[in-house]
Amino acid sequence: MKTFYIETFGCQMNAHDSEKVIGTLLAQGYQQVPTPDQAELVFYNTCSIRDKAEQKVFHRLDQFKRDGKGKTFAVLGCVAQQEGEKIFEKAPHVSMVCGSASYNQLPQMLVQLEAGNRRVTGLSLDTDETFETPMTRRDNPHRAYITIIEGCDKKCAYCVVPFTRGPERSRTSASVIAEAQQLSAMGYSEIQLLGQNVNSYQDPSPAGWDFAKLLDEVGRVEGIRRVRFTTSHPRDFVKPIIDAIDTNPYLCNHVHLPVQSGSTRMLEAMQRLYTREEYMQRIAWIKAARRSIAITTDIIVGFPGETEAQFNETLSLVREADFDDAYTFRYSVRDGTPAVRLKDHVPEEVAAERLTRLIEEVRDNVRRKNLARVGEAHEVLVERPAKRGGLMLGRTRNNHLVLLDLAEASIGEYHQVQLTGTTGSTFTGRALMPQLAVL
Ligand code: 5AD
Ligand code: SF4
Repeated sequence: MKTFYIETFGCQMNAHDSEKVIGTLLAQGYQQVPTPDQAELVFYNTCSIRDKAEQKVFHRLDQFKRDGKGKTFAVLGCVAQQEGEKIFEKAPHVSMVCGSASYNQLPQMLVQLEAGNRRVTGLSLDTDETFETPMTRRDNPHRAYITIIEGCDKKCAYCVVPFTRGPERSRTSASVIAEAQQLSAMGYSEIQLLGQNVNSYQDPSPAGWDFAKLLDEVGRVEGIRRVRFTTSHPRDFVKPIIDAIDTNPYLCNHVHLPVQSGSTRMLEAMQRLYTREEYMQRIAWIKAARRSIAITTDIIVGFPGETEAQFNETLSLVREADFDDAYTFRYSVRDGTPAVRLKDHVPEEVAAERLTRLIEEVRDNVRRKNLARVGEAHEVLVERPAKRGGLMLGRTRNNHLVLLDLAEASIGEYHQVQLTGTTGSTFTGRALMPQLAVL
């Protein structure tokens, strides 16, 4: 039996792709091992969103330049798609490069590898399918990802995703619902719907469901207690999504809505297709909901041409939108994206300094909000042991992490919990009573 090792970088889409790839490999008779040293086949499922992410895979490959003899290396995912056959030049010990739009061909590609072909490629983006397999080997026994849409048709000036994951293609609503039902029957109680832009989901079957309808229906699948979704593009984020969350208690009260900048001028340069005011309109919808809905975001600083005044607009938006959390990034130029042509670069040290100020602003806001939450009662799904202190780590419906003094056997259980303190980001909590029925 051939052994394989896989390491995954990047987003949840990549994490879920790896679950499908692992299932495919196991079905082909391969055996997974926990370290690259033990493996005959070494897979890296890669991310190219920023330069640092891309460098990671070449760093890993470099480590095996000399002592990788007898092993076969394969690069999957976004760096594979972006760099293509150039990877064979950069890292001659790699024998396979395969982008995410070609995973359907993995079984044939593995046969070619076995036959001794040292340059196996899967780089076509020309597909109208997503990659699905009944073999998916899920990591977590309680919380499952389901892909609803692959690829991206937006053309954000900074972003590689349209080039690495190809054009948008949605799965039929019937196949998504069937997968949710199957997962429920297997004992999963939480589902996370995945797509680069879930809001532009469009059912290709005659049923013709949009995202709000799909979300609501997944939340009605028997046995499913929590439904999350990621990621949303503000342009396609419509009010019916909020109405669905407001009326269906099984949908989690959390929205991740990347803003990227608080300046309309910068949003235009980024080709984001909305203004600051339009973004804030969506925030107003979310805040007007009857349920309290947590809002998180992504922000880029130092995009070409960003002035101090425009950066200050981002700081003021963070205050105004009152985010529950924000992932903050320094702009990283990516080959092949529209922004490559832009001049007027923001000097490294200016971008670094802005990032520091932004992180402080976000941290202060989050700490203030979280302190005000101490004392609240929340339903928590216990997920895993915490890194320290023999405690368990659980998650509220609105996506806050809570440390709990519970036994390991509580993993997978729902507990009603009182928040007793916060470090600023994570909470500590006390379980009030076990296994409460939903809401
Ligand atoms: N540079 C910096 N950050 C980026 N992101 C996407 N592309 C880039 C880039 N070239 C950020 C965006 C996106 C998140 C997943 O990564 O904020 O929402
Ligand atoms: Fe990274 Fe984007 Fe690819 Fe996800 S889709 S792995 S974030 S480049």
